[in-house]
Amino acid sequence: MRIDILSAVPDLMQSFFAHSILQRAKDRGLLEIHLHNIHDYSLKKFKQIDDYQFGGGAGMVMSIEPILTCIENLQKDRKYDEIIFMTPDGVLLEQKMVNSLSLKENIILLCGHYKGIDERLREHVITREISIGSYVLSGGELPAAVLVDAIGRLIPGVLNDETSALTDSFQDNLLAPPVYTRPADFKGWKVPDVLLSGNDKLIEEWRFQQSMERTKSRRPDLLEND
Ligand code: ADE
Repeated sequence: MRIDILSAVPDLMQSFFAHSILQRAKDRGLLEIHLHNIHDYSLKKFKQIDDYQFGGGAGMVMSIEPILTCIENLQKDRKYDEIIFMTPDGVLLEQKMVNSLSLKENIILLCGHYKGIDERLREHVITREISIGSYVLSGGELPAAVLVDAIGRLIPGVLNDETSALTDSFQDNLLAPPVYTRPADFKGWKVPDVLLSGNDKLIEEWRFQQSMERTKSRRPDLLEND
């Protein structure tokens, strides 16, 4: 899978993608991440990429031209499945959306800044708008990094234990059950007996029950969905 990220401050994201699971995905040739600085596509004197908004009002708006030039350059070399704009007024990101995006070949992520981007890009170029939560961040870079992380770990071959992504919270609309590791007794804080029983069926039942209880008390909305 290939992900191209358009940003006014690509350096912000550089190191995030150079560690741990995402680095492994890149090393294994399963994921390519390309960062593009929108300023490089500006024809203006000082590489400006924003302008005043028509009709007046506070806040600058990101201009069409440098963003579209960058996107069109990329489209010369390959077809993109999605051109996604990270924005607080997009559709709220959830696991199902991540699952389906992880099956795509090529996607572009556009990180917004300032007051937003010229609406005509949203009307004519952007195929999807995604928000990572009901709060406003100062730019789309962190949201893009969140999305890439969530997608990257689902690409087959990226995680060592192939089943572990499938047993994540949310994969079956349930939160994950509690997990424990050694020691079995830490100063009197004990691991539930069932996990030490060696009885796989009982353990599986216990985990399911724990997942249900956790979901009912913390995220009952997940049980109401479809
Ligand atoms: N840009 C600023 N805030 C955002 C959010 N919550 N989600 C996605 N993009 C954003």
